Amino acid sequence: MALEQEIGCAAGTCLGCVVDGAGGPVRVCREGPVFAAGELDWGTDR
Ligand code: FES
Repeated sequence: MALEQEIGCAAGTCLGCVVDGAGGPVRVCREGPVFAAGELDWGTDR
């Protein structure tokens, strides 16, 4: 799936596009924008 997120620097430095990943925060502009479903934290354990 591709995430849409506001992009600031698009270089991985401002952290303005960070979302919760399964293993910790991920940057949509660098690690994404395409993620496998299992790479994201869906908050199902909350
Ligand atoms: S937009 Fe700056 S880190 Fe992603």
